[in-house]
Amino acid sequence: MSKKRVLVCLTGASGSIYGLRLVRALKRLGHEVHLVVSKWGADTLLHETDVTVEQLGAEVDTVYDEHDLSAGPASGSFHLDSMAVVPCSMKTLAGIAHGYADNLITRAADCCLKERKTLVLVPRETPLNLIHIRNMELVTEAGAIVLPASPAFWHKPDTVEELVDSIVDRILVHMHVIAKPTIEWKGPNGVENE
Ligand SMILES: Cc1cc2nc3c(=O)[nH]c(=O)nc-3n(C[C@H](O)[C@H](O)[C@H](O)COP(=O)(O)O)c2cc1C
Repeated sequence: MSKKRVLVCLTGASGSIYGLRLVRALKRLGHEVHLVVSKWGADTLLHETDVTVEQLGAEVDTVYDEHDLSAGPASGSFHLDSMAVVPCSMKTLAGIAHGYADNLITRAADCCLKERKTLVLVPRETPLNLIHIRNMELVTEAGAIVLPASPAFWHKPDTVEELVDSIVDRILVHMHVIAKPTIEWKGPNGVENE
């Protein structure tokens, strides 16, 4: 697949390992990765993975400050093939759902929706209240793909990384950077259904 320019944003929901492994998978695949990490995203990343934003930033092409609303992704004219918010907090989900674009993550998402570009949101919260559910409905109606961080177990993962990568795999498909899932259900006997 041709080289894509993508924006990945990490926010302050638990599950920063999903964003971390997504960034690494995108770079392994040879794509141009732009990154925004919110303040609470950075905190959670460090707490859950021992990786700093500076370390993750060194692995990507461009890192932006979440408050820099003059950065490229704040404009709909900035070329992006797709954007993903992984993990997506309920606060950032609410901002996107209501067009409250007060930082670079919510503004870039707003631009993706208005320009009809691919926007994948990976929310993480449990249980969900009605506000969360309604916000997911709103962003879906606006064109985003809500891809919850709820991994499958049928591929019998041995490690947390394998479990996480089953979600990363689905994100990559929906960001249009791989053509089909690497982890694919082929029926109970491993035979592809016709
Ligand atoms: C350790 C930790 C875990 C959190 N987990 C979640 C979570 O899973 N989902 C969520 O919506 N918020 C979670 N929060 C709360 C968010 O970080 C908080 O709402 C924050 O304002 C989100 O801001 P952001 O979207 O700009 O990153 C967590 C906070 C901390 C400190």
